[in-house]
Amino acid sequence: MRAVSEGLLLVGASGLAREVLAAGITGVVGLLDDDVRLHGEEIGGVPVLGPVGDAATRTEQLLVCIGPSEARREVVRRLARLGVPDDRYARFVARSARIGTTSEVGAGSILLDAVVVTADAVLGQHVVVMPHGTIAHDAVVADYATLASGVSLAGGVRVGEAAYLGMNCAVRQRLSIGAAATVGMSAAVVGDVPDGETWAGVPARRLGEKK
Ligand SMILES: CC(C)(COP(=O)(O)OP(=O)(O)OC[C@H]1O[C@@H](n2cnc3c(N)ncnc32)[C@H](O)[C@@H]1OP(=O)(O)O)[C@@H](O)C(=O)NCCC(=O)NCCS
Repeated sequence: MRAVSEGLLLVGASGLAREVLAAGITGVVGLLDDDVRLHGEEIGGVPVLGPVGDAATRTEQLLVCIGPSEARREVVRRLARLGVPDDRYARFVARSARIGTTSEVGAGSILLDAVVVTADAVLGQHVVVMPHGTIAHDAVVADYATLASGVSLAGGVRVGEAAYLGMNCAVRQRLSIGAAATVGMSAAVVGDVPDGETWAGVPARRLGEKK
């Protein structure tokens, strides 16, 4: 296996990549994206060097900057099939974000400005938390989950793999959001959300269900 070299590549020339750059990440040498029209262009002052698969033949650290949870997981799985090991992935925590000393954040995860993770919380790999997310004590956020701006998780909430929580939703303490579930913007979640379902509203209900 090749040694990981200096420098960082962002995978996905996306809005999330531009947000990561604007949040002051250092050491980025390029972006990788499958859109050939972007190759040779600069985004956020950084060149788009080639397709995503190039990550397998290069040696820099990687950060997958793809907002939708399941698409992000698909890219990481694709790169794993090409031989990219877990230890290639960096982690980005914006300077103004705060991770409590007793909390953990996995490799590949991105925490943007003013995110607060309090005590004894565990965030898995390739989790994205957008600005002003709040994750309270004992919460567990599984791999590939995405928390859009302003999401608040109360104590002991569990978020399943590749779930997507829309802007400014709030989840009551000790509830579960299922794997690959979606929670709509501004929802107040007062009951468990099953795997794969979309819930929204105040109080949140399954979308399409009668109020
Ligand atoms: C919940 C959500 C996923 C639904 O998207 P969708 O499946 O395309 O749904 P539609 O826009 O077709 O709306 C379907 C119905 O749900 C309602 N609805 C949509 N989003 C809602 C929300 N957040 N809260 C309450 N109702 C909502 C619509 O008004 C519509 O109601 P109707 O059938 O009575 O007309 C989406 O609206 C949402 O909130 N996404 C999160 C966006 C976000 O946070 N983005 C961050 C990007 S960084």
